[in-house]
Amino acid sequence: MSATVIDGKAFAATVREKVASHVARLKAEHDITPGLAVVLVGEDPASQVYVRSKGKQTVEVGMNSVEHKLDAATSESDLLALIDQLNADPTVHGILVQLPLPDHLNEDLVINSIAPSKDVDGFHISNVGLLGTGQQSMVPCTPLGCLMMLRDHHGSISGLDAVVIGRSNIVGKPMAQLLLGDSCTVTIAHSRTKDLAETVRRADIVVAAVGRPEMVPGDWIKPGATVIDVGINRIDAPEKGPGKTRLVGDCHYESCAAVAGAITPVPGGVGPMTIACLLANTVTACCRANDLDPPEGLTA
Ligand code: GUN
Repeated sequence: MSATVIDGKAFAATVREKVASHVARLKAEHDITPGLAVVLVGEDPASQVYVRSKGKQTVEVGMNSVEHKLDAATSESDLLALIDQLNADPTVHGILVQLPLPDHLNEDLVINSIAPSKDVDGFHISNVGLLGTGQQSMVPCTPLGCLMMLRDHHGSISGLDAVVIGRSNIVGKPMAQLLLGDSCTVTIAHSRTKDLAETVRRADIVVAAVGRPEMVPGDWIKPGATVIDVGINRIDAPEKGPGKTRLVGDCHYESCAAVAGAITPVPGGVGPMTIACLLANTVTACCRANDLDPPEGLTA
């Protein structure tokens, strides 16, 4: 069997098109332009790349983008004051504080100071609780992207066995909640799981989010299962030349693709969906703030 490749790059482009057409309607019919504020503290190079990309894509779909770049030594009270100001600003519908923060800043305190209705990352403790109790919330972008791809591929995933490998607050735990919300039977596996191979072999859906390069081999995959690989790991690639590297997922692509029914590649799978879902969450937040219906198919 050779797996269907789930093209996250193409899927993300369709999500951005839906967002852009909804943004155009909000402008034309209600004179509202959704706005996203991104806060970056310090000069972490990877974070700078992410923030630039988020700002660029926000503008491309017709939304307002505001970037606040703060010195690495910014005090907690100054950062909290900025968040208060953004919380109160009616032109800002989404607020994202890029993580990780410098060590002297308390990440939980900072995230929980964002108004839950503007928390487009879905990291605020209120949104975590709302998602866990099946209520309307802002949903973390990466798991939301995975759910959209699963729904698109399967139609319905109700009743399927899903195994999530990884228990992070950003991906593993919210992913499990979303799968449960769509009536999957869900197992969260992690580094201490007793027989990980056997656990994964039971799954109709495998979501790998552990951050360990090529950890899941093809012989852990049930024939025909759907594999969603969230990992983005850079490894040495001496075959490409001295000092060269390449990106791989948490799953060993060739062996998993030989057994799976469908699989997301790395790169070009889950990765592009994350920023697309951030844009979707921003338009959703804007609609809810104005008592309007959010676009269909872009929410959990
Ligand atoms: N750093 C890496 N990924 C993310 C993300 O999804 N949201 C935020 N706020 N910071 C990140």
